[in-house]
Amino acid sequence: MRACRIGVPLWVVAAIVATGCSSSPGVRRSVAHNTSTTSNAPGAAGLRLLAERRGLLLGTAVNDDALQREVDYRDTLATQFSMVEPENVMKWDAIHPAPDRFDFTAGDRLVAFAREHDMAVRGHTLVWKNANPEWLERGRFTRAQAITLLRDHIYEVVGHYRGEIAQWDVVNEALDDAGHYADNPWLRAIGPDYVPMAFRFAHDADPHAELYYNDYDIGYPGRKAAAILALVTALKHGGTPIDGIGMQFHLIPPAVDLRRIAEQMRTFADLGLSYAITEFDVPLKLPATGSEQQMQADLAGGVLRTCLAAPNCRTFNLWGFTDRHSWVPQHLAGYGAATPMDMHLRPKPAWQALRSELTA
Ligand code: G3I
Repeated sequence: MRACRIGVPLWVVAAIVATGCSSSPGVRRSVAHNTSTTSNAPGAAGLRLLAERRGLLLGTAVNDDALQREVDYRDTLATQFSMVEPENVMKWDAIHPAPDRFDFTAGDRLVAFAREHDMAVRGHTLVWKNANPEWLERGRFTRAQAITLLRDHIYEVVGHYRGEIAQWDVVNEALDDAGHYADNPWLRAIGPDYVPMAFRFAHDADPHAELYYNDYDIGYPGRKAAAILALVTALKHGGTPIDGIGMQFHLIPPAVDLRRIAEQMRTFADLGLSYAITEFDVPLKLPATGSEQQMQADLAGGVLRTCLAAPNCRTFNLWGFTDRHSWVPQHLAGYGAATPMDMHLRPKPAWQALRSELTA
């Protein structure tokens, strides 16, 4: 099956190769939980246990409103996954809304839930071109001021969650689709050195957390894939404390070339970098037909199979596990049905495909 791009913003058509590693020692790990589920999802029992038997951290981005208000959402989260990731509440605009104010309320809620259900936590994200508060986006900082601001933010946030976060997305999407550094407040004020600096600050603040560079659309040969390879190679060889590379995997059917994904996994694994599949979903043009749902299932099963077969792929995160809470309809007009469970938390073919791969 060949990779395809349709007329959708590039940042969405992302077939990204990932092989992930287990989390660092000394960080909360998930343990097998009872496999029953209180959701009304027949046959949805047990993904978490099945994944743990394969040594896989199976996780999902979490919607904070649903976490607070929906019992069925919380139950499914706790019984079916062993890792949680904040969809939005640890981004700058949420966690550092004013120069002198941090708000950890929602992040603490997610970390408390993970602790209660013995789940790992993936932190997202310390540096990105999006989701920045106005005061940062419009600020005029000298290089020294920007370095101090970046350092203080990372020390404060990573320090606050020290010992609770298995993996951090330290830098997210630093490059544009042509492989050049993407514009953001840090590139403007500091220059490209903000990338290794961010990793160094994060390592200083929590030496136990695995530190990731996260991006999309680097599962195929191309300028961006080559640029990311060059970037992480330089980071690694320059002594930057980077442990892994996160591949987002926002996939638009019909397909991806699984052989190329496996090859890309090896390329990065040879660098000694662990891999996480960090934001897997498959947006479908609405109304989604049965065959498109089957394509979605084939992609989910194929990518998970490729991950499990890879030398060090031990993290597979969905970007939301139910269509009830998915970013896609608000951000991609005409698309939706991107996740493995429907609005009522009933498993779709993609859920069954994940389950089949885990029991294979
Ligand atoms: O919280 C405000 C709310 O107060 C306000 O009323 C509402 C209407 O404007 O906006 C709310 O903020 C929204 C936020 O999600 C929380 O719902 C932002 O407008 C909206 O832009 C934001 O979208 C998120 C997007 O990242 C940008 O941060 C999506 O939910 C989230 O799924 C998406 O996730 C990204 C990853 O972080 C990085 N990789 C790509 C992925 C998909 O774009």
